[in-house]
Amino acid sequence: MSPVDLSKLSKFYKKTNSEKIDSLLQAGVISKEDATLLSENGLELPDEIAGNMIENQIGRYSLPYGVAFHFLIDGKDYAVPMAMEEPSVVAAASFAAKIIREAGGFRTSLTDRRMIGQVALKSVPDVQKAIQNIEQHTEEVLSRANEAHPSIVKRGGGAREVHVRLLEADTIEDTPEFLVVHLHIETLEAMGANIVNTMMEGIAPYLEELTGGTALMRILSNYATECLATAECRIPTRLLKHGSFTGEEVRDRMIEAGHFAWADPYRAVTHNKGIMNGVDAVVLASGNDWRAIEAGAHAYAVKSGQYRALSRWKKDENGELVGTLTLPLPVGAVGGSIGIHPAAQFTKRLLGYESAAELERIIVSVGLAQNFAAMRALVTEGIQKGHMGLQARSLAISAGAKGADIDKVVNQLKEAPNMNLATAKDILENLEN
Ligand code: MEV
Repeated sequence: MSPVDLSKLSKFYKKTNSEKIDSLLQAGVISKEDATLLSENGLELPDEIAGNMIENQIGRYSLPYGVAFHFLIDGKDYAVPMAMEEPSVVAAASFAAKIIREAGGFRTSLTDRRMIGQVALKSVPDVQKAIQNIEQHTEEVLSRANEAHPSIVKRGGGAREVHVRLLEADTIEDTPEFLVVHLHIETLEAMGANIVNTMMEGIAPYLEELTGGTALMRILSNYATECLATAECRIPTRLLKHGSFTGEEVRDRMIEAGHFAWADPYRAVTHNKGIMNGVDAVVLASGNDWRAIEAGAHAYAVKSGQYRALSRWKKDENGELVGTLTLPLPVGAVGGSIGIHPAAQFTKRLLGYESAAELERIIVSVGLAQNFAAMRALVTEGIQKGHMGLQARSLAISAGAKGADIDKVVNQLKEAPNMNLATAKDILENLEN
């Protein structure tokens, strides 16, 4: 995407749908073709595609598709699409990205993108001999895996490493011993579940030969510890001042909030849920498998043996607030629904990402932005204040308000002593009378 002309996007949330589309076009965020597509409701999944995606399809379930601005990631501008049902998430992402942009933006780093496949072997007669045998034949294991999926090898990917893990029997839980063989596989631009599963099924008979055991199952692991993405931001205290709180106070309270989420699993789950608000919304908009990303992220949060915060917040030698977030992010730029869902294809054009690695950098930055916004609100004014506007809007709609009446009900609700459905209905009734 060419640099975004942010001046064309001011007060975006106040615009009508067609004004929004027009300003995205004027700002250089979308092409003319995509402006037409959006105005014709072209992100919807056509029936014939939906019917071929899952079994017994009877309808389509829509979610709002929004866009968050101000993201500056490794020096590049992004308008970030988010598919999400929860109010305030898009606004919080944009708000955080704006502050972080003024502080120089996000910097990201990645490990190699390698997916993990498992073959679990049971009833191995001599485990030590089996381990030795596999270790002596790793080249053969790798070449049999690659023979099982020659096209990924042709494109420059393939199985790269073999690792063996012994899971000991547990007499209390009454579980037997397992010998588990992992392959680390480069799946290039794909998330690669099919590639990995094909390879694991391809090598299982050979592993049975080498170990004398029986392969119980052969499958990808969603705990993608060989595909990690990290985002960092550094924010000077002058950008943190908020209400009656000085920038230093906000910084220190955010660091303490990070310590709390590190120490307490009850808080850590909510803290991480806030991070995943941003992550899932972009993963979903991109057509990737958000359950895989969720499962992997929460497993990564418990890697020390205790469930902890996924992000860290510290102070550097200059007194700046430094936030970091690392996540397993085995997303793809091709495959699955990415190539067939019109919204996922639009997401690709909107973000202009050129590789799955670039998509990882964007997603982890959005997770960190979301965490920043939540923590800053929580340690200062609380989050309810920011939620009130959209809460009032959904109450007005639930009460039956339509068109221009929605804004009228919202404005009166915000002033009302009790913001609830009954009050919204009363206000609407008065308006109608
Ligand atoms: C709400 O969806 C997310 C938060 O609860 C996250 C957090 O507490 O850090 C606000």
